[in-house]
Amino acid sequence: MENNRRPDDMKRIETPELAEAFISEQIEAIRNQVGDKKVLLALSGGVDSSVVAALLIKAVGQNLVCVHVNHGLLRKGEPEQVIEVFRNQMNANLIYVDAVDRFLDKLEGVTDPEQKRHIIGEEFIDVFAEEARKLSGVSFLAQGTIWPDILESEAGIKAHHNAGGLPEDIASRFELVEPVKLLFKDEVRVVGKALGLPDNMVYRQPFPGPGLGVRCPGAITRDRLEAVRESDAILREEFAKNGLEGKVWQYFTVVPDFKSTGVKNGKRTFDWPCIIRAINTTDVMEVTVEHLSPELIDHLVQRITTEVPGINRVLIDYTPKPPATVEYE
Ligand code: XMP
Repeated sequence: MENNRRPDDMKRIETPELAEAFISEQIEAIRNQVGDKKVLLALSGGVDSSVVAALLIKAVGQNLVCVHVNHGLLRKGEPEQVIEVFRNQMNANLIYVDAVDRFLDKLEGVTDPEQKRHIIGEEFIDVFAEEARKLSGVSFLAQGTIWPDILESEAGIKAHHNAGGLPEDIASRFELVEPVKLLFKDEVRVVGKALGLPDNMVYRQPFPGPGLGVRCPGAITRDRLEAVRESDAILREEFAKNGLEGKVWQYFTVVPDFKSTGVKNGKRTFDWPCIIRAINTTDVMEVTVEHLSPELIDHLVQRITTEVPGINRVLIDYTPKPPATVEYE
């Protein structure tokens, strides 16, 4: 399709002025495409869907219907931030779906990483399709497809179209709206900043679709998942305090499914370890580790072992890729 190509001479959006011009153009293009019809968007709170939401709110206001599915595998504070930014500050028409029990019940006892990913993906589509079926008069589906997604799907590396996974009765109802499909990630961030989105949304590190589920290796249990979520929140807070937010490409914690002996307040404990992983990369095919200062490590060990229930030991993963992948599953 001709309009699916990024022209060779397309100027990179690197300044607030270019971002403003892009925003004005897209608002007009969206209005021309959708008229007074309704548009549906799955809003995860990631950079791409958040920028699409903010653009569409400007273009069509209440005719945008955002659906935020909380699958229980999001980071601490994420669902609350989506509600605060989009419903409270931007006055968006936002449907919040608490699907935590539904996802965690389906994942109970499942140990195979690919099966876990499959269940999370399928369940997400089911929940979203159920919400879509409840709505009438929606003719468009907005997606945060970006230019690298198009390149990767053309190269057969990954399928990016959410609509591709939707059941036929839903997918056939919608025409796609993809306002950032010609942009690279750094350009999406410049546009997000110009749209007034908060920095921690615009400059957030990559987060996998299956979320904390891949950082809770083996069968996910609610208590171990909480240990992942709480330790991840402490790590993010300390990285921000130490000026590492936005400098280190990706950092997170993993709580593996084994226990070791410890001692707390003179009593024996038998708890999980928490693994810290912080890495840098340009292409994700090869990654190097970020070497943390001894002071920061000491502080993280102290906080995580005292503040996170179920953790009595902290380990640092200093393995590059290859031989290790970034995520544990
Ligand atoms: P790996 O573990 O393959 O990760 O070295 C490379 C990058 O991809 C992210 N990742 C995922 N992203 N769905 C996603 O959307 C997934 O299933 C998935 N698995 C890994 C990972 O966080 C890292 O940035």
